[in-house]
Amino acid sequence: MTQDELKALVGQAALAHVVPGSIVGVGTGSTVNCFIDALATMKDQIRGAVSSSVKSTERLQAHGIPVLDSNTVESIPVYIDGADEIDHQGCMIKGGGAALTREKIVADLAERFVCIADESKLVDVLGAFPLPVEVIPMAAAQVMRRFAKVYGGTATVREGVTTDNGNVIVDVRGLKITDPLAMEAEVTLWPGVVTVGIFGRHKAKVCLLGTSQGVRTLD
Ligand code: 5RP
Repeated sequence: MTQDELKALVGQAALAHVVPGSIVGVGTGSTVNCFIDALATMKDQIRGAVSSSVKSTERLQAHGIPVLDSNTVESIPVYIDGADEIDHQGCMIKGGGAALTREKIVADLAERFVCIADESKLVDVLGAFPLPVEVIPMAAAQVMRRFAKVYGGTATVREGVTTDNGNVIVDVRGLKITDPLAMEAEVTLWPGVVTVGIFGRHKAKVCLLGTSQGVRTLD
């Protein structure tokens, strides 16, 4: 099976986690695009979606799925999103699509994070994928220096990318994230950091992993 076929498989499988009559939290990325297309087949059974990016909002609306303002929603049962890496505890690196801040906000509204990914995303230790950090532009150089000093990684500003919130993405290479919760807590405190792409406090409760043998569920 190709990677695209595996993404379609888990996008479809995620429908089983959608609670009929509820509002669904929707992430961002190519795997989530497959989920959005599948969700369109049951759009009459949900009240709508809270979206984590302009791109996902546009795709949801193109299918006629109502998108609600997150400020009007107190909680949602399920948030469905992809990941750049996920470990065996459900901690993730996210932000390859630069949507990490809104993704963490919607994940925070949700009772359950259901991660959908192809099997290449499952790792023993997070960090082979460059860690995205959304940063207020005037703090970019300071945050990059601090990464080198504290964790020894090599940080660069992602070229040509401005987030939906008007900020830059710093990508940090060469990390071995053995304690995701500790690194998430520390980096979140640095002035100018809006969101670090470690999802440890908001880790996945369930991961639907696309494999050539079918969907493997990790929970
Ligand atoms: C976007 C994300 C995505 O979930 C992550 O990049 C995975 O994307 P894809 O499904 O395209 O591999 O965090 O900010």
